[in-house]
Amino acid sequence: MEDGRRVLSDVVSSQAAFFSRYGGVVPELAGRNHAARILPVVRESLRVAGVAYGDLGGVAATHGPGLTGALLVGLNFGKALAVGLGVPFVGVNHLAAHLQAPLLGENPPEPPFVGLLVSGGHTALYAVGPGEGAGGHRGGGESGRGLLRFRLLGETLDDAAGEAYDKVGRLLGIPYPAGPALDKLAYSGDGEAEPFTRPLPEGLNFSFSGLKTAAARRVAELAGEGVLEERRAAVAAGFQAAVVETLTDKALAACRETDLNKLVVGGGVAANRGLRELLSRRAGEEGVEARFAPLEYTMDNAAMVAARGYFLLAAGRTSPPELEASACLELGVENG
Ligand code: KG4
Ligand code: ZN
Repeated sequence: MEDGRRVLSDVVSSQAAFFSRYGGVVPELAGRNHAARILPVVRESLRVAGVAYGDLGGVAATHGPGLTGALLVGLNFGKALAVGLGVPFVGVNHLAAHLQAPLLGENPPEPPFVGLLVSGGHTALYAVGPGEGAGGHRGGGESGRGLLRFRLLGETLDDAAGEAYDKVGRLLGIPYPAGPALDKLAYSGDGEAEPFTRPLPEGLNFSFSGLKTAAARRVAELAGEGVLEERRAAVAAGFQAAVVETLTDKALAACRETDLNKLVVGGGVAANRGLRELLSRRAGEEGVEARFAPLEYTMDNAAMVAARGYFLLAAGRTSPPELEASACLELGVENG
């Protein structure tokens, strides 16, 4: 990562295929796989970027939220690398990194804006402003504007959107992570959609567990009638419509409430075609500029972590050597 904007390399060692046979991530195995893969992945990323260890000006690694066993591997590797090279180290909040991803595209949006985070573990809305020191710090005004600050507006009261995709996908026989295939399945039918009630809890909060249960009940009924195979696309289309309409309604309500006319969307579910289409159209109608993370930076990736880390380090924020991995880390509680 150069300048917090230019990605020199982004190597992802996905464990999706490995975990599809388990129907989800097995924490203990995820940590072990991380330990086995981290050095080859770092070497590969330097090779692709065409830089040497000695060229690095700082190191950033995720310190939470997430699976502790996996976080510990990256965090301790990052700290050790920074000490070995004599460069600063900073821990990055995974959620902040997901909302940094939309700034990796061309002509990055400038804060303030509303941030919609939709991933496998989180669904939340934030008012996002420029970080302290924006405009005046080392690296100048341009890099200062990339440092974001977050205020929570609303979040899911139960399941995350991506989690609901994975669970409903599983009912339809789609291996983990089911989001991308379920998204495609939703577009594969004849336009018919099973009707599902839109979950709309109070304020700017979300809820997806009722929808997941309704989908499970409908899938069981269709299977009982022996017509599940021919109705799979209609279930997918109905489920997707309920999820993306809810996300769109709440995100635009957040823009109205905060009087912000810019919206950025990050996290794995930001890759969803239905969400990209509906949210872009409805935002346009309401005079809101909607910006999604570039597709390659929606699912978990190192580029978004490096970008967030760059802006933290540029603002002089480094982490102490004792920084711990935190399974449950709120956004804004960043030790950087
Ligand atoms: O952000 P991410 O890579 O990991 C977390 O931090 O959780 O998000 C992964 C989640 C998975 O639940 C996956 O099924 C979902 O994002 N996902 C999608 C799509 N692509 C990935 N969900 C719906 N539609 C998609 N196209
Ligand atoms: Zn993620």
